Amino acid sequence: MENPFSYSDYVIGKAFCNRDKEQKDLIYYAQNSQNVLLYSHRRMGKTSLVHQVIHRLKKVKPLVKSVYIDLYGSLDENDFIDAVLSGLTQIETKLERLLNQMAGLKVAASIDPVTSLPTVSASIKPREKPEYLEKALTILASYSKKQKLLVVFDEFQEVAKYSEEGFEKRLRKVIQGHRNISYIFSGSQKHILIEMFDSAKRAFYKMARSYPLENIGLQDYIRWARTLFKKKGVNIDKEIISDIVERCNCQPMYIQQFLFDLWRCDTVSLTALDAIEKSILTSQRDQFIVLWNLLTQNQKKALRLLAQTGGQGIYGAEQLQSVGFNSGSVLQRALTSLVEKEILSRNGIFEFQDAMFKKWVQSLS
Ligand SMILES: Nc1ncnc2c1ncn2[C@@H]1O[C@H](COP(=O)(O)OP(=O)(O)OP(=O)(O)O)[C@@H](O)[C@H]1O
Ligand SMILES: [Mg+2]
Repeated sequence: MENPFSYSDYVIGKAFCNRDKEQKDLIYYAQNSQNVLLYSHRRMGKTSLVHQVIHRLKKVKPLVKSVYIDLYGSLDENDFIDAVLSGLTQIETKLERLLNQMAGLKVAASIDPVTSLPTVSASIKPREKPEYLEKALTILASYSKKQKLLVVFDEFQEVAKYSEEGFEKRLRKVIQGHRNISYIFSGSQKHILIEMFDSAKRAFYKMARSYPLENIGLQDYIRWARTLFKKKGVNIDKEIISDIVERCNCQPMYIQQFLFDLWRCDTVSLTALDAIEKSILTSQRDQFIVLWNLLTQNQKKALRLLAQTGGQGIYGAEQLQSVGFNSGSVLQRALTSLVEKEILSRNGIFEFQDAMFKKWVQSLS
């Protein structure tokens, strides 16, 4: 029987655990053309959730068509425009008809050799950017006249890093008139996104309803994993799943990886989990070393301190000295930069975003 678990890409369908409320909410917002800012730290399941919603929207009435636009790796306005133009191929399968609508734009269509999907790219002179942006988004809006649309901009925080003057303002100006489109702005790097949408000085101020993505509950993981294991005739104890969720600090990607590996085991036991954890740590080791080597001495010390203490009482003199800090302000600076690098998150206390990286750092001291 095929392994139902998956951890290398987004998941939908059977491999997707729960998030019933989130799916219901996002479907409702899509059907009622509300904009949403969906955010969480890395690998929490944003992309999976939006794909699951897109999948469900194909079957529920009133029908909403979806355009998923991944902005990961986009560096400037030109990349953004290309991403929007390519996204249009998801709602207009007849490339010729699409190109006809783009008359006046200097565009070329091709098939992406990696994804085998059609892509469209425009050759734009710097001064033409505003015009191209507006045209691309207007074509998108023209489809929403016939049909409600959901448009997802994934990794939207990248937009804040574009160097083009006034880009956010221009983008807002066009899309705020789109009555029949629900935009989901999704991404990590919470500090960038919150600043974009919550600061009165920024163009996207109050443009979308804030939707932080929370952890999936333990009971949901238990129900979901047990159902899938039953298909194989295996009755898996709740304790085993609780143990996995705890080891992974609720991170869905690692939970999937544990379950994927456990599916292959002859016996389901805590000993098997120890072996899986060891193999995950071994497989990640090289990546962790690369990441570790990119950090400053103070950042490394801060991580060591967090790994040792779990984040409690880290500013105490004894704790600071235990890793060689002379003052709390140096620690504070290191922690702030680690949050910016998305290595830590701050929910009251500082926590590692990556549960296995934390274990690896613990193993160093
Ligand atoms: N609802 C879910 N049920 C089960 N597993 C999930 C779920 N959501 C995410 N995952 C697991 O977590 C992994 C990461 O999910 P996904 O890529 O959707 O997260 P993300 O928040 O978009 O990450 P990034 O911030 O890196 O873009 C998936 O490969 C999958 O293994
Ligand atoms: Mg993602």
